[in-house]
Amino acid sequence: MNTPQHVAIIMDGNGRWAERRGQTRTSGHRKGVEAVRGAVRSAGELGVKYLTLFAFSSENWRRPEDEVNDLMGLLKVFIRRDLAELHRENVRVRIIGDRQTLKHDILALLTEAEDLTRNNRALELIIAFNYGGRDDIARAARLLASKAARGEIDPASICEETISAALDTADIPDPDMIIRTSGEQRISNFLIWQAAYAEFVFLPCLWPDFDRASFEDALREFGSRDRRFGNVAERDLALGS
Ligand code: IPE
Ligand code: IPE
Ligand code: MG
Repeated sequence: MNTPQHVAIIMDGNGRWAERRGQTRTSGHRKGVEAVRGAVRSAGELGVKYLTLFAFSSENWRRPEDEVNDLMGLLKVFIRRDLAELHRENVRVRIIGDRQTLKHDILALLTEAEDLTRNNRALELIIAFNYGGRDDIARAARLLASKAARGEIDPASICEETISAALDTADIPDPDMIIRTSGEQRISNFLIWQAAYAEFVFLPCLWPDFDRASFEDALREFGSRDRRFGNVAERDLALGS
């Protein structure tokens, strides 16, 4: 089967999962962390090389302060509890998103995870935290503009590749497939530049229920898509025009 090299997931529906059980949103997020562990394991077993998980968006600061604190706390717990195991499994951890506004303790943990796992090669786990696609592009634009102002680059040389290389995802290939759980069908400011040719798969299940079978369903759906990248279908090329 044609396996996507890079799968990115918008993990949505923790709140609704909890609501349906009469539980707090926090318990939904906690259950969501278990689904994260499962997704990382499945990705490795299914031959995916890059797995990007949208964990906290630049817009999620709009949520009530308690919930924001819970989400920050869960990231810390996840890194503290799982880092050694991820390292043993040869997983490289990377973080994308704006680091400038993160608290010092979170930043220190994220940097520790990246440093420890830098040379691991089995799977790249990219955690999008305090990430917004527009913010990513705006920061890249600022970086390129300041280089141009210092005379380090010629503005006329700025092209798609230069911009890609200035994004948080600089040396990560674009996602082949973006999965969103919970039935919502929107991108919510996720990898908007990088998603140019991604296949979108929307699954009805809520994130805490996302399991190996859901991952396989999404891969099967991906396998049935005809990716043309602006060209005509391969069978038409073979037949000639
Ligand atoms: C998890 O699901 C996504 C995060 C922002 C962590 P939600 O918290 O958005 O759950 P719903 O959409 O309210 O169900
Ligand atoms: C997107 O989910 C962000 C993450 C999964 C981290 P949201 O639940 O925040 O998105 P909207 O608000 O429904 O668009
Ligand atoms: Mg949501």
